[in-house]
Amino acid sequence: MLQRAPLGFSVFGYGSQELDIGNAEQIQAVFDAIKPELVINAAAYTAVDKAESDADRAYAVNSHGVGLLATAAESLGIPLLHISTDYVFSGEGDKPYTPDDVTRPTGVYGLSKLAGEKQLQAQCSRHLVLRTSWVFGAHGNNFVKTMLRLGSDRDTLSVVADQHGGPTSAGSIADTLWALAVIFQQEGRLGWGVYHYSGVPACSWHDFANEIFTQAVSLGLLEKSPELKAITTADYPTPAKRPAWSVLDCEKLADVHGLSPRSWVQELQAVLQQLGERRSA
Ligand SMILES: NC(=O)c1ccc[n+]([C@@H]2O[C@H](COP(=O)([O-])OP(=O)(O)OC[C@H]3O[C@@H](n4cnc5c(N)ncnc54)[C@H](OP(=O)(O)O)[C@@H]3O)[C@@H](O)[C@H]2O)c1
Repeated sequence: MLQRAPLGFSVFGYGSQELDIGNAEQIQAVFDAIKPELVINAAAYTAVDKAESDADRAYAVNSHGVGLLATAAESLGIPLLHISTDYVFSGEGDKPYTPDDVTRPTGVYGLSKLAGEKQLQAQCSRHLVLRTSWVFGAHGNNFVKTMLRLGSDRDTLSVVADQHGGPTSAGSIADTLWALAVIFQQEGRLGWGVYHYSGVPACSWHDFANEIFTQAVSLGLLEKSPELKAITTADYPTPAKRPAWSVLDCEKLADVHGLSPRSWVQELQAVLQQLGERRSA
């Protein structure tokens, strides 16, 4: 992410070892040292299933930690851009969710993330929440990398076909946040509030897996695609309920800030090429 920072910005990135967002003194020490003009928070407790039995920890990071960051940002009068999730919705819809739609998380992770959004809104006047979904990229663990690993180990793979959402590349989220930072730098303001940003078009996990294997074979990352079976959510029980419908309406971000969603199919190609280059390096 730091590699994509716009020219003219001094960017400081911190891992959880260097800056625990649940620790007000650490936040203050970092803010005192670098005197930020804008903060982007991508830190979160993201173990969706584990959160069901580890609610205290999920809330400590996703709600209390965000509240501490928000308070520190407000004390400097600076904006806090914060990443949130499609899991704040129940998943029972059939039209893309707008930022104003009613939230109703079905699990601890979504509840803790929604609590964090509320902390941010209450503590920091210059806040922007960017809800996203189904994040993939060349770094970290994610669905694309899991599919590549399973696809090279197995002949047959079963993937859920009755959950729909928008796969979103981490790079496109980073670019969107940078673009927002640039707008703030140039104009001294942003349209504060809640926005949605995810890849288009919406698809199922099964569709996503199918495209991953098609592209991976054509790029030479896999010899052949495994046979892909479509299963239902009921066939693949998990401790935390997943929203069946996670599709986010991203029009507000385009209308207010001119930032449009990208094609996840094209973003996937860039990520697979990056993974291929890394393999052959
Ligand atoms: N992945 C998705 O599909 C998805 C979908 C929608 C929204 N999101 C949102 O996107 C953001 C990034 O998620 P991700 O998928 O990149 O998750 P991730 O890979 O789990 O990254 C979260 C990061 O937060 C750090 N962290 C955890 N507790 C912290 C603390 N107390 N202080 C400082 N850092 C802490 C973690 O560090 P350690 O590894 O050292 O613990 C990790 O580097 C989150 O806000 C998440 O809710 C993700």
